[in-house]
Amino acid sequence: MDTSKLRVNGARLRASLEEMAKIGATPGGGVQRLTLSDEDRRARDLLVKWLKEIDFSVSIDEMGNIFGRTAGKDDALPPVMTGSHVDSQPKGGRFDGILGVMGALEVMRTLHENKVQTEHPLILVDWTNEEGSRFAPAMVSSGVWAGALQRDWVYARTDKDGKVFGEELQRIGYKGTIPAKKWPAHAYFEYHIEQGPMLERQGTTIGAPKGILCLHWYDVYLEGEANQVGPTPMEGRKDALCAAAEMILAVNTLPDRMKGNMVATVGEIQNYPNSRNIIPDKVHFTVDIRSWDDDHALKAWDLLKKDFTDIAGRRRTPIRIEETWRVAHAPFNEKLVQRVLDTAKELGYSHLHMVSGAGHDASYMNQVCPTAMIFVPSIGGRSHVEVENTKWEDCEAGANVLLHALLKTANER
Ligand code: GLV
Ligand code: MN
Ligand code: MN
Repeated sequence: MDTSKLRVNGARLRASLEEMAKIGATPGGGVQRLTLSDEDRRARDLLVKWLKEIDFSVSIDEMGNIFGRTAGKDDALPPVMTGSHVDSQPKGGRFDGILGVMGALEVMRTLHENKVQTEHPLILVDWTNEEGSRFAPAMVSSGVWAGALQRDWVYARTDKDGKVFGEELQRIGYKGTIPAKKWPAHAYFEYHIEQGPMLERQGTTIGAPKGILCLHWYDVYLEGEANQVGPTPMEGRKDALCAAAEMILAVNTLPDRMKGNMVATVGEIQNYPNSRNIIPDKVHFTVDIRSWDDDHALKAWDLLKKDFTDIAGRRRTPIRIEETWRVAHAPFNEKLVQRVLDTAKELGYSHLHMVSGAGHDASYMNQVCPTAMIFVPSIGGRSHVEVENTKWEDCEAGANVLLHALLKTANER
């Protein structure tokens, strides 16, 4: 058949997204589907059921990554892969990650009902723990699959209640037996919401990022001395929270001091014993630094580490730093990025060449095979929040771009 006329079913895509949004729905209109939670399990079960309905063979690897596969005309060719993640942030949105999985599913359903078989096999993937907010760091299971992270290191990561990644994976029934180990892949496409304001500001429907910023994550632990706040004079206190406060502002001013080209954020903090009338004696907080320039981000970290040491010394609060995770900036395959732009143009959608500030499994996939992403606008540029939203017609447009970029790629010899 002439596949150039094929289009996805936007109403069916919307219905799938709405069905998924019921799993972990929050009162504020978002979802909370933390990785390896019962909600994550329910979303996975539904995805597996839907994949089986279109005759995909489903396999689960030892990281819990779910792969749905359909044969190619030449099944010995390396597969074209596409997908994203079903886990969410705490009080996250209804589109981050799940759009890339449901969009890919809609593409596969469209091909299935039209009996279209591509030359290369196709694989739809759900990567475990993209978000990294329950178990840091992020994107760990594409990282293990790509050979960039160690499986047992990830298994041993704990959440803030002390639960262990490997045990939680087992508990939800998704610790598969297949090794999480890359195989040759022809290409990887990841469809995602932009999570920023650029597309909306420019009135553009489709974004094709040239790549993803580097991501560097750190964990900082401070020790103070607890005491009754009333009788203890201000002089001589060892207040771990005050030290953290100074450090957090040092993070916030870091991009300015580095003359831009980066962002830096403290998003998580634990303060102990967290009582209004006890001087805090233990604080943990996180640092997230991102830039297109890996060296620039490393230089920024050197400067920040010096600030931290000075502050900790002055406030007499011993500091311990964990350099938790670094993933280099990921410049995508130019041919595939151009293919996304060309496909958008052919389908009559406005398009923009841009950069991704958000992290994605595509960062690690880029180390394995030619990779590109497809972005659609986030209303108000908001994401990782319950009000995260994208117009249904944009969801459909992005899925159509995925469909045709995938068809072109999976039919090349
Ligand atoms: C992933 O969600 C990120 O932190 O960008
Ligand atoms: Mn995401
Ligand atoms: Mn996210």
